Amino acid sequence: MIFKKQLSILLFLAGSALAANAQTTANLSISNDSKLTVSKYIYGQFAEHLGRGIYGGFWVDKTMPVEKQDRIRLDIVKALVKIKIPSLRWPGGCFADEYHWRDGIGPAEQRPKMVNTNWGGTTEDNSFGTHEFLELCSLLHCEPYMAANVGSGTVEEMSKWIEYVNSNSTSTIAQMRAQNGHPDPYKVTFWGIGNESWGCGGNMTPEFYCDQFKRYASFAKNYPGAPLKKIASGPNADDYNWTEVIMKNIPDYMMWGISLHYYTVPTGDWGHKGSATSFSESEYFGTMERCLRMEELVTKHSAIMDKYDPKKNVALVVDEWGIWTDSEPGDHGVLYQQNSLRDALIAGTNLNIFNNHCDRVRGAALAQTINVLQSLILTDKEKMLLTPTYHIFDMYKVHQDAKYLPIQLTSPDYVVDGKKLPAVNVSASQDSSGKVHISLVNLDLHNNITIRTSLKDIKWKTVTGQILTSANITDINTFDQPDKIHLENFKGAKKDGSNLVVVLPAKSVVTLELQ
Ligand code: AHR
Repeated sequence: MIFKKQLSILLFLAGSALAANAQTTANLSISNDSKLTVSKYIYGQFAEHLGRGIYGGFWVDKTMPVEKQDRIRLDIVKALVKIKIPSLRWPGGCFADEYHWRDGIGPAEQRPKMVNTNWGGTTEDNSFGTHEFLELCSLLHCEPYMAANVGSGTVEEMSKWIEYVNSNSTSTIAQMRAQNGHPDPYKVTFWGIGNESWGCGGNMTPEFYCDQFKRYASFAKNYPGAPLKKIASGPNADDYNWTEVIMKNIPDYMMWGISLHYYTVPTGDWGHKGSATSFSESEYFGTMERCLRMEELVTKHSAIMDKYDPKKNVALVVDEWGIWTDSEPGDHGVLYQQNSLRDALIAGTNLNIFNNHCDRVRGAALAQTINVLQSLILTDKEKMLLTPTYHIFDMYKVHQDAKYLPIQLTSPDYVVDGKKLPAVNVSASQDSSGKVHISLVNLDLHNNITIRTSLKDIKWKTVTGQILTSANITDINTFDQPDKIHLENFKGAKKDGSNLVVVLPAKSVVTLELQ
């Protein structure tokens, strides 16, 4: 009798332990059957004149005791070079459509000041302009992606900006660039023709924007060595009509890409977006539901594009994405938010979606690099820290320009309050040396998941990996504890015959390397 009672207690304890840390199973197959490349531009970044992104982020006061070139912080540059950012979008965002580039060239003390009406009414002294941005890109070894002002600028202004930056002629405007210290043309190829022209960029209808695009694009000229990749201002989230009208009216030879903007707002309510650091499991679940919506958006916009452009000449460029929470207290409308392990899972999930749609998604930009929205880096005067999101870009850099490997995945559900979503998401690629990289995200906060993987026509012998996780989903890096969340070697993957078996811990992101 006593024995029976002890046994039932033991069974109960074992059952509770399993419920807290049950091992569920996913099946994954990865094939070699593809000719697609994961464009490195999927890993692009965005930096707007907003809050402490540029001023107090990249571009600091002369007196700040950090290593600098001109006023560019070199500790930040070094950290970004490590993760190989391929492109940087600038100067906005909404700011782009009120930016007049001539205000940002020539002697700094003579540059006019303006009010940044979009972002906190701060004074913009134009000390960071075209030359400073292009110097920054050269230090970062990345390509500039410049957004031209369509909303409040003119065709002449945009056309002359491109000439100023790219022309090697003896025209007065090209000579002006030389007088301002850069005789060689910069050869900037990525140009956005306006930003959010359906909203802060001019509140246009898609039909009106198409005509504007064609006008502006006609006078955006190619100069030697700089054939332009013009990117049309694309839809807001699920505005499928915008995509339809653009694709119908703008011929594919005129545009390299069309943008898509979609942010993950934790509560789904722009009035009360939710805290970056304090949230319940139920709010976390809702956030991940909204994050996974990117899959639906990319799929549906791509389907519309396929109708008009079956050869997939035009790229879908998700050049604003990331989590947008309430700002930290005292921020005064300039979008400074902390970055938790949740943000890392969001980054990994979005990048997996983009990798898996690399036939159409050939560019993206996380918003917004430093101190703004889902940042890679946060600073407090001369202190800086790398966010969990930074570490995801570090892990995932192996996918840049690698051969895409198609996957098939059966994921267990992550269930909260009777609602479910796929717990696991994955993408894979093979680099030019033959190494296979697999990135896996487990969104489930409680359950480790065992993933049985078969690899078709892929030979490999060893597996290594890195993992990003932490004790709590709300964990963050702070200036007192900057390395609380950091990459570690991952030991949970092994070869089993020709298969790969991975035990993916709850709330983690892993990238494996098979060779
Ligand atoms: O990234 C912040 C803002 O979000 C950008 O300025 C704008 O394009 C978008 O609405």
